[in-house]
Amino acid sequence: MVGGGAREHALAWKLSRAAGVDELYAAPGNPGMAGMATCVPIAADAMVELAEFAASLHIDLTVVGPELPLVLGIADEFARRGLLLLGPSRAAAEVEGSKVFTKEFCLRHSIPTARSRVVRSRDEAAAAVKELKVPVVFKADGLAAGKGVQVCRRKDEVEAALALYFEERAFGSAGEKVLVEECLEGDEISFMVLTDGTSVLPLASARDYKRLKDGDQGPNTGGMGSVSPAPMESGLATTILRAIVHPTITGLAAEGRPYRGVLYAGVMVTREGPQLLEYNCRFGDPETQVVIPRLEGDLLPLLRAAALGELGALRANWKREAVVCVVLAADGYPGAPRRGDPIAGLGEALAQPGVLLFHAGTALQDGRLVTAGGRVLSVVGRGSTLNEASQSAYSAVGRVQFDGVQYRRDIGKGLA
Ligand SMILES: Nc1ncnc2c1ncn2[C@@H]1O[C@H](COP(=O)(O)OP(=O)(O)O)[C@@H](O)[C@H]1O
Ligand SMILES: [Mg+2]
Repeated sequence: MVGGGAREHALAWKLSRAAGVDELYAAPGNPGMAGMATCVPIAADAMVELAEFAASLHIDLTVVGPELPLVLGIADEFARRGLLLLGPSRAAAEVEGSKVFTKEFCLRHSIPTARSRVVRSRDEAAAAVKELKVPVVFKADGLAAGKGVQVCRRKDEVEAALALYFEERAFGSAGEKVLVEECLEGDEISFMVLTDGTSVLPLASARDYKRLKDGDQGPNTGGMGSVSPAPMESGLATTILRAIVHPTITGLAAEGRPYRGVLYAGVMVTREGPQLLEYNCRFGDPETQVVIPRLEGDLLPLLRAAALGELGALRANWKREAVVCVVLAADGYPGAPRRGDPIAGLGEALAQPGVLLFHAGTALQDGRLVTAGGRVLSVVGRGSTLNEASQSAYSAVGRVQFDGVQYRRDIGKGLA
C-alpha cells in the first residue's frame, strides 16, 4: 500500500482481513496502520525506491493511494520491472494531472462538461470572464493539493482571482495554464469506478463535504467528511456511466492511454443532466473511508483482477448499511496546521458500536500519539440509515480529544 492517509488506512484495514493476504506493507503508512501492516519509511512519491523495495520482497500487488506518484509515473516504473501495480500509467493519470488535458479530451469525446477557455495571462483571463460572465470558476491546470480552484460569484472575487493566478502566480508551474469556466449549478456527487481499461465496475455511491464549516461555509479543504450511499435519483448512475465514464475509458484507450485503476469522476448534476467537473486518478479521500466498509466480501480479488486486466464481469456487492465519516482536523487547517498536540480518547471512541477509526496526520512522539498533519483522523460510523450512521460517528467524535480540533457537526445529517 503506497501512502499514509486515512484512505490508505481504510484500504489496508479491508485488505488485511482478506483471504490470500499473507503480508501487507505500507509505505510510509501511519501509526494506525502499524497494527495491520508493516510500515516502511519510504515516501509515497519515491518511485524508484518503492519499485526496488517491491522487487526485493517479491510483492505480488502494489496499490497506490495518492495521485502524486501516479502522475509522476509510478505505474510505468513498476511495469518496466514486471511488477504488478494497481493504478494508471503516467499518460492515463493526466486525467488528473492536467485539467486542460481533460477539458480538451471531453470536447474530443462529447463528454458533458462546463464551457471554458484556456488562458495564460491576466488579459486572456479577463477576456474569458467577460465572455463566460460572472459567476465563473478559475482552475489551475496542474496538481495543486486541492487548492487550485476558485469559484468566483462576485466581481471582487474575480479581481482577487486574477491577482492570485497571474500576479502572485500562487500555483507556480501548475498555474501556467488556467481554465476559466462557466459556473455550474446543481448537486455534486463523487462517482468512482474500478476499471482494467475495458471493463468497468462501479463502486458504491458517495458524497464528500469539501468546505471547512457547517452548511458548506468556509474555505475548501481536502474533505471534511463523507457519506455512502449518496442520496441519488434512480437512473443517475446509469446516465453517468453512459455519458461520462464509458466514453472516457474507451476514449483513453483509443488515444493510446489505456486506463487501469480507480477512476473518480467529480460530477455536478445540473438541470441539463450530469456534467464532469474533474477526474481524479485514484480512490477519493474521504470517500474511500465510507465506501470500503460497505464492500461485501474481499477487496483483493477485485483490485488484482483490475491490475491484471481481467476484471471481466466481476461485480461487487455492497452492504445495505449506511456509513458516515467525520474528519477531525488540526488547528490552523486548511492553512498551516499546528502539529504535536497529544491525542486522547481513541480507545473509548473505538468502543462505540459500529465505529471505525482511520489515521491520517498522526505520529508517535516519545510513545505518545500526537497530531502531525492537517487532517488528523477519519471517524467512521455505521448504521442502517445515514442518520444512525451519523449518530454513531458523532458518539465517537465526542470521545476524541486534542487541542484545537476542528470538525463539522452536520455530516450525514438531514439527508434522505
Ligand atoms: N464549473 C464549476 N461550477 C461550479 N462549481 C465548480 C466548478 N468546477 C469546480 N467547482 C467546485 O470547486 C470544487 C473543486 O473543483 P475540482 O474541479 O473538483 O478541482 P480540485 O478537486 O482539483 O480542487 C468542486 O468540488 C466544486 O465544488
Ligand atoms: Mg475535486
